[in-house]
Amino acid sequence: MNIREELDIRAKHVEEILGQFLPLGIGTQKTIFDAMNYSLLAGGKRIRPIIMEESYKMFAQKNGVSTNAINAFMSAMEMIHTYSLVHDDLPAMDNDEYRRGKKTTHAVYGEAMGILAGDALLNYAFETAAEAFDDEEVNVSYLKAYQVLASKAGAYGMIGGQVVDIETENMPAEQVSLARLTYIHQLKTAALLEASLMIGAILGGATPEEVCIMECIGQRVGVAFQIQDDILDVTSTMEVLGKPIGSDEKNNKVTYVTLVGLEKAREEVARLSKEAVELLDELSVNSEFLREVVLYLIHREK
Ligand code: IPE
Ligand code: IPE
Ligand code: MG
Ligand code: MG
Ligand code: MG
Repeated sequence: MNIREELDIRAKHVEEILGQFLPLGIGTQKTIFDAMNYSLLAGGKRIRPIIMEESYKMFAQKNGVSTNAINAFMSAMEMIHTYSLVHDDLPAMDNDEYRRGKKTTHAVYGEAMGILAGDALLNYAFETAAEAFDDEEVNVSYLKAYQVLASKAGAYGMIGGQVVDIETENMPAEQVSLARLTYIHQLKTAALLEASLMIGAILGGATPEEVCIMECIGQRVGVAFQIQDDILDVTSTMEVLGKPIGSDEKNNKVTYVTLVGLEKAREEVARLSKEAVELLDELSVNSEFLREVVLYLIHREK
C-alpha cells in the first residue's frame, strides 16, 4: 500500500460525503453559508474523518455491523475541526492570514463573519450528526457517539486546550512545564482525534474496553500530531503547509521545540507513535491501514 496515495483517495472520499451535508447556501443570510463552505471546502488532510471511518470499518467488519450513520458523524467532525481552525486564526487568537493555502475566513469575510462562520459550523456539526437519528435502525450507539462528539469538542476537550494554550502565551519558558504543554496538546488537538477513533469504534459495535483502547491510541497520536505541527511551524514553508510558518514564535508560544529542542521533539513524536501502534496491536481486528497512518504521521510534511 502506498500510504500517501491511499490517504489522497480517502480524503476525496471524505469530501464526497461532506458534499452531501453542506448547507444549501440560499437565504437572506447567504453570507454565512458562503463563509462556512469557503472554509470547509478549502482542502485539508481530512485526517479526522479518515481515521473515524477506518475505526468504524475495523469493528464493523468484525461485528457484522453496517450503518450509514458514520457519514453524518464524519462530516460533523470535519465541521468541528474546521470551525476550530477558523477561530484559531482570528486576530484575537493566533492572528493568521492563510489556512489550507487560501486566505483565512476572517481575512476574506471580515472578523465578525469569521466569528459567526465558526459558530455556525460548530452548530451545524451537531445538526448534521443529529441527521443520523433519522435512520430507521437508530440505536443507542448513535447516542453514545453524539455524547463523545459533544464532550471532546467542549471545555473539557478541544476548547479547554485552546484556553490553556492562550493563557500560556507570553509565559516565560522556565515557567512552562512539559506536563502543562502535554496537557494543552491532549486537549486542543488529541481530543478530536480521540473522538474520531472512539465514534468510529462505537458505531462499529466495539466493546467499552475496545473504545477505551481507541481513546488511548487517539491520545498518543494526537499529542504526536501537535508536536509535529509545532516542528513544522519551525522547519517547513508556507507553500508546503498552506499556512504561515513562525506562527508560534510570533505569538510567544512555548512548544516542545522551544522546550526540549528539535531532536528531542522528533524523538517524542516517534515514541508516542510507537506506543499507539503497540496499543493497536492489542486489538483483535485488522488494523493495518491505521497502523500505516500512524507511522506515516511521524514523518508527515504537512
Ligand atoms: C491543524 O490540523 C491544527 C492542529 C491541530 C495541528 P490539521 O493539520 O489536521 O489541518 P488540516 O485539516 O489538514 O488543514
Ligand atoms: C491549534 O493549534 C489547534 C486547534 C485546536 C485549532 P495551532 O494553533 O498550532 O494550529 P495551527 O498551526 O494554527 O494549524
Ligand atoms: Mg493556536
Ligand atoms: Mg494556530
Ligand atoms: Mg501550529
